[in-house]
Amino acid sequence: MKKTNWWKNAVFYQIYPRSFQDTNNDGIGDLPGITQRLDYLAFLGVEALWLSPVYASPNDDNGYDISDYQKIGSEYGSMQDMDELIAKAQEKNIKIIMDLVVNHTSDEHPWFQAALAGPENPYHDFYVWRKGIDGQVPNELLSNFGGSAWSYVPALDEYYLHLHSKKQPDLNWENPKMRQAIYQMMNFWLAKGIGGFRLDVIDLIGKEPDQLITKNGPKLHELLQEMNQATFGNYDVVTVGETWGATPEIAQLYSDEQREELSMVFQFEHINLDKQAGQRKWDLKALEPQELHAVFSKWQTELAGKGWNSLFWNNHDLPRIISRWGNDQEYRELSGKMLAIYLHFMQGTPYIYQGEEIGMINYPVTDIAEVDDIESRRMYAERSAAGYSKEEMLTSINAKGRDNARHPMQWNDGPNAGFSQGTPWLPVGDSSEINVDAALADKHSLFYTYKRLIELRKKETTIIDGDYQVIETNNPLVLAYQRQLGSDKILVVVNFSKEVQSYQFIENPQIKAWLITNYQEQLTNQLQPYEAFALKIL
Ligand code: NOJ
Repeated sequence: MKKTNWWKNAVFYQIYPRSFQDTNNDGIGDLPGITQRLDYLAFLGVEALWLSPVYASPNDDNGYDISDYQKIGSEYGSMQDMDELIAKAQEKNIKIIMDLVVNHTSDEHPWFQAALAGPENPYHDFYVWRKGIDGQVPNELLSNFGGSAWSYVPALDEYYLHLHSKKQPDLNWENPKMRQAIYQMMNFWLAKGIGGFRLDVIDLIGKEPDQLITKNGPKLHELLQEMNQATFGNYDVVTVGETWGATPEIAQLYSDEQREELSMVFQFEHINLDKQAGQRKWDLKALEPQELHAVFSKWQTELAGKGWNSLFWNNHDLPRIISRWGNDQEYRELSGKMLAIYLHFMQGTPYIYQGEEIGMINYPVTDIAEVDDIESRRMYAERSAAGYSKEEMLTSINAKGRDNARHPMQWNDGPNAGFSQGTPWLPVGDSSEINVDAALADKHSLFYTYKRLIELRKKETTIIDGDYQVIETNNPLVLAYQRQLGSDKILVVVNFSKEVQSYQFIENPQIKAWLITNYQEQLTNQLQPYEAFALKIL
């Protein structure tokens, strides 16, 4: 199978199907809704759509708890809708990337149901079971959503492992029969002509629970090589692993082409910069832009020629980036453009999360009753018990809660922002100004910055293949870097603040051409709030 590595030149777009476009007015987005919006996505210029899970699921964790991998959840449509989406997208040169959740299933998956029959049942060993110790959990492993990672099944007098909710039992990757069943399922999807997989929490599959090892277990890379050979290695597809525990060294192991594991991973070092060291994401700290620059620069440099980066600000688990590190008040569009420009000239594959391209912002709540997300609710329950104040917990949720990214896509300024004519499963934000129609009608909107950045990536091979170098500016809030391929040089400069900033280069650049800016095409030693630009220089 010839590998074209098409994904190195493409810009990806993540869809959270539940919140993208509802066509049957049940208040939940669906597959026909995505198909209906393909023209919009093609106009933006993206070439691959990563869909968060659309499989059958009881939705304890919004689809990341799958009860049937080869069935579409009825709220999203049918397998025929899926086939149609794949085919229609293909006509527009857009590939569909499926979310592969194989660290765990739903407890309602037939495998787990069979496993509950006891150790004689062949499916029992598809999951991770241990005996308790003195009537207590087997060990102190914690779930990522808080609380013990073990749940007791009285009929078996055994505990099963779940690194997420107790409705998400972890699969036992030590079991070759389980692995073959997963590979078969993956091949079912690959045969449909999908463009690849995003692999949910894939760094957990090599876990050694008895050693308290969850991330980056000793057999992880061996397992991925086996999976590659048995499945996607035989297709010209992309694979991107979600790996919260990846360092640049580890990311090289995953994404070095010679090793035949994955195309790239999502790493989260930049995402962790606004939490207190050693604490959970809820324990807030202000971002230091120069720290962000150092982290990006490290990843750019360390993966160059040895792996491949993914580039993202947002996904369905993260707050909206403009509210987080930009300014969602007077500089909403300007700061959104600055963030986009900063990211999109780097080496790697950029991912845009639905609504990011029109500058959607967080959705603050005033009471936990308004929150859907299981992670936020679990945190609230735990911290209430530990004596935290309501105000403190809601501040955390408003800053970091996952619902922020999950409110419906804002298509227009009409009822429910054009998302649904029914009652949306999660309320719709204020779409009077922030909506797709308005963005398309204004040639200076953030949308056109994204569109231009996507076009530039297709035209300028320096963005894909060039070297990366940090450029000093003498101001910690003015971040700059240069990309270079042969004699072609691109300089990117951004003001990561809402104040005017002065800055100076060691050597003044000689402008060859302006590529993009969110102000005027004029180079001075002062930058306006959130000013950002990219230049071709001599
Ligand atoms: C990561 C997914 O992105 C998140 O939404 C989910 O809750 C966990 N993995 C568990 O599958």
